[in-house]
Amino acid sequence: MRIELDFSGRHVMVFGGTTGINLGIADCFAQRRGRVTVVSRKQDNVDAATAQLSKHGGEVLGVVADVRDPATVEAAVAASVARFGPIDVLVSGAAGNFLAEAKNLSPNGFGVVVDIDLKGTFHVMRLAYPHLARPGASVINITAPQGQKPARLQVHACAAKAGVDQVTRVLAQEWGPDGIRVNAISPGPIGDTEGVRRLVASTPDAKRRAEARIPLGRFGELDDIGNLAMFLASPYSGYISGAIIPCDGGGSMDVERYQPE
Ligand code: COA
Ligand code: NAP
Repeated sequence: MRIELDFSGRHVMVFGGTTGINLGIADCFAQRRGRVTVVSRKQDNVDAATAQLSKHGGEVLGVVADVRDPATVEAAVAASVARFGPIDVLVSGAAGNFLAEAKNLSPNGFGVVVDIDLKGTFHVMRLAYPHLARPGASVINITAPQGQKPARLQVHACAAKAGVDQVTRVLAQEWGPDGIRVNAISPGPIGDTEGVRRLVASTPDAKRRAEARIPLGRFGELDDIGNLAMFLASPYSGYISGAIIPCDGGGSMDVERYQPE
């Protein structure tokens, strides 16, 4: 069955949406006539992303904000709502990660990842909440398999993403009565993204070995995640809430994928 989704007039706000997986998500909605806002720290990234998204001919807004700073998140939400009205689809995907042994990780090194991934996701959700369309809004957090499975050298990201998973579930409970669904996507290694470069496949050989450990035999593509995001934003997923959904070719069944060579 071919399903053609159309997000004409729908307001889609993507935090961390200026590069990589989250930009891929934003692009899927922009291609299908959504009104898309992307948010991140760096003006250059915001400018490049808005230029890319605008090529699809729809309405696009780019805003600079740091998810660690609630005042800038609130301002970004206000700017987006002033332009496009209540938020139909909220994506929280800003994240930071690097490989480091816990014994060498400073308090700030641990804290910065928790601040971006976990506390940032809370700020985004909490500050967008009054402006979410109800009933009908869909909140999509971008988590990672590390939230559920331990991975050496990533104690910071494992802790932060485990927190994101629980924030997702708890707010699905609290916001369900408003008609707001809250879910998370847990991607496997996706294409030529920053996460892949930093964590999984720093050399072609490492990439080949990582691919061989995935049942479907390949890394994901940006559209694999974008397609799931669109499904979660659509009425086809109208009874799905509080779910942490892997999109990883089956790879998260194999925890060794996340172990360093
Ligand atoms: N190993 C150990 N510690 C590290 C580190 C590494 N590779 N990279 C950063 N840190 C530590 C720093 O030493 C610092 O701690 P300190 O003050 O005790 O020295 C702390 O983390 C903060 O680093 P800083 O560079 O000031 O943070 P930032 O706010 O400029 O950047 C990061 C945040 C570190 C997460 C940065 O990697 C980033 O911006 N990432 C976004 C992109 C990304 O990670 N994408 C992949 C997503 S899966
Ligand atoms: P990425 O390209 O580095 O994307 C991160 C985005 O977040 C960028 O747009 C970045 O832009 C923004 N950002 C970072 N810190 C921010 C902050 N403090 N405030 C606001 N924006 C911030 O990484 P990616 O690999 O595509 O990963 C995207 C998401 O997918 C993350 O949540 C990651 O954990 C998850 N994930 C990725 C993979 C993978 O294979 N790549 C696998 C599993 C899960 P600025 O630098 O301009 O701020």
